[in-house]
Formats: sequence, C-alpha cells, structure tokens
Amino acid sequence: MKDITKNDTSHVIKPNKGSEHPSSTDRHRTLIKVQGIEQSFKVGEETVEVLHNSSFTIEEKTFNIIYGPSGSGKSTLLNVLSAIQPPTRGRVEIAGFDIYKYKPEQLAYFRGSQIGVVYQQNYWVSSLNVIENVALPLYFLGKKKQEAHRLAMDALQRIDMAPFAKKSPLLLSGGEQQRIAMARAIVADPMLIIADEPTGSLDTKNGDMIMALLQSYNRDLKRTVVLVTHNMEYLPLADRLIKINDGVCQEMQNDDVGHTTKNLIKDLGDRIDKLAESKRNG
Ligand SMILES: Nc1ncnc2c1ncn2[C@@H]1O[C@H](COP(=O)(O)OP(=O)(O)OP(=O)(O)O)[C@@H](O)[C@H]1O
Ligand SMILES: [Mg+2]
Repeated sequence: MKDITKNDTSHVIKPNKGSEHPSSTDRHRTLIKVQGIEQSFKVGEETVEVLHNSSFTIEEKTFNIIYGPSGSGKSTLLNVLSAIQPPTRGRVEIAGFDIYKYKPEQLAYFRGSQIGVVYQQNYWVSSLNVIENVALPLYFLGKKKQEAHRLAMDALQRIDMAPFAKKSPLLLSGGEQQRIAMARAIVADPMLIIADEPTGSLDTKNGDMIMALLQSYNRDLKRTVVLVTHNMEYLPLADRLIKINDGVCQEMQNDDVGHTTKNLIKDLGDRIDKLAESKRNG
C-alpha cells in the first residue's frame, strides 16, 4: 500500500492507552457482510431505485475505497453501512450481527460506539466550542461531562489539535475543521471509520493530511476504514476497491487495485487529449 505518511510523522494518530482493539490479531476476518441489499425511496407517487441487489464483504483492519460516478449511490450505500438507513431489502452484518435487527436504541448505541463518520462538509453545533463538539457523540453514549471532555481532549491530542480546543470550529480553516472532524470520529474509539468524500472540499495538501490520518488509523491502530472518494490519486491506498455503477456494487480483487488505477488514469489522459483536440479544431 502506498504510504503518504512516509517522511512526515506529524500526520500519525497517536495511540491512546489500550487502543488496540481487543479482538485484534494479524489475521483478517470479515467485518462487514452485505447481502443482496437494495435501496429505494418513495418520492410522491414514484419509487426511486438507488441500490440494486448488491453483495460484498469488507475485511477487518483493511482500507477500503468505494468509487463510482456522481449519483451512482455511494452516499446511499454509506448510510446503509453506517447504521443510519436500513436497506429496503437484504441484510448488513457487522462483526457478526445483523445490525438492522437491533432495536432502535441498541442500533443508536452500536452506531455511536463502533462507527465514526467523516463527511465532506462538517456539521457543527455553532454554540459549542471544538472540545464540546468533539465530545458530543460521547454524551449520547451516556458519558458524564468530565469523562467526555477528557476523552475529547485525548482525541484532539492524538491528532495534534489540542491547542484548538476552546476555539469555535466555525472560525477554523477547512483543513483544520476536517482534522477536528477526525477527532470527533475517533473519540469513542470505534472499530470502523466511514468517510464520505472527506477531502472533497480541501486542497491537495490538506486532502493528503486527512488521508494520512485515515491511513494511520487503519495501519497503526488496526481499525477498518471505508472511504468514498472522487480523487483517483488515492485509489492506490486501498487494500480493496469497491466499484459502484448505477447502484450496483462490484468488489474488485486485491490485485485489481493497480490495474484499475492505471485504467482510470488512462481514461483521464484520453479525455484530456479529446478536449485538447476539440479546442484545436475550434
Ligand atoms: N432520500 C432520498 N430520496 C430520493 N432519492 C434519493 C434519496 N437519497 C438519494 N437519492 C437518489 O439516489 C441517487 C444516488 O444518490 P447518492 O447521494 O447516493 O449518490 P452519490 O454517488 O453519493 O453521488 P455524489 O458523488 O454526487 O455524492 C441520486 O439520484 C439521488 O437523488
Ligand atoms: Mg455522495
């Protein structure tokens, strides 16, 4: 796997005490098993079918990238994987549990304690400062304020953002806000991080920094990462690629990663050549 943290140790998430997941071994086991999921939405009289009969697995402690064109269903799929949206059909097993069989309060606890989510744009409670925003998921898990703040400060320290604790998140740069979003995603020490285009609104330097944090969470802390990205240059970071097209997911094999990246780069080159030619021909 390409290592974008090489020569730059500032983008490494520092482990906290006991951060190794209790079930950690070097063997990869299936963490997520998606079986025949379909997702449709009722819009007025119409039914919009977004995901079609898709099945795949995600192994524990791996770095997974989902890619596909705009509107293909990537965010819809992530909502299903992150225990937010039950599929219309099919099942999603995480760590051996059919998650949508949980009662709503069990599902909410599972989501809050085991899944950290990072989005392209972040949603902050504007009346709260950075540490309070990072601590927020812990209040929902029933932690007392003092304990929640201790863990939030710990998460901020692990990504070198402790000096920002008392600031308003709204006054921070895009890159700083995404780092804070990473702190919020890891504050409960989840086994799974799900990120929906977390670098989409960032420049290359800040994008690489967020990718390095995700990579570190996977490599150093042995957690599982599922990422949606439009940025082709990040595809070689994946252990496994999942391609989605018109709502159909296709699991690529490990040795397809390099091959897929080369094809995508070739497609991009062809497109640039075509555009240049059309410009030359007026
Ligand atoms: N709640 C909903 N109700 C109706 N249609 C929806 C709903 N959620 C998503 N869709 C539709 O599903 C399709 C896929 O949307 P989705 O947001 O998953 O795409 P995406 O691959 O994430 O796109 P992008 O790359 O632009 O973020 C779109 O046509 C969208 O309008
Ligand atoms: Mg999307």
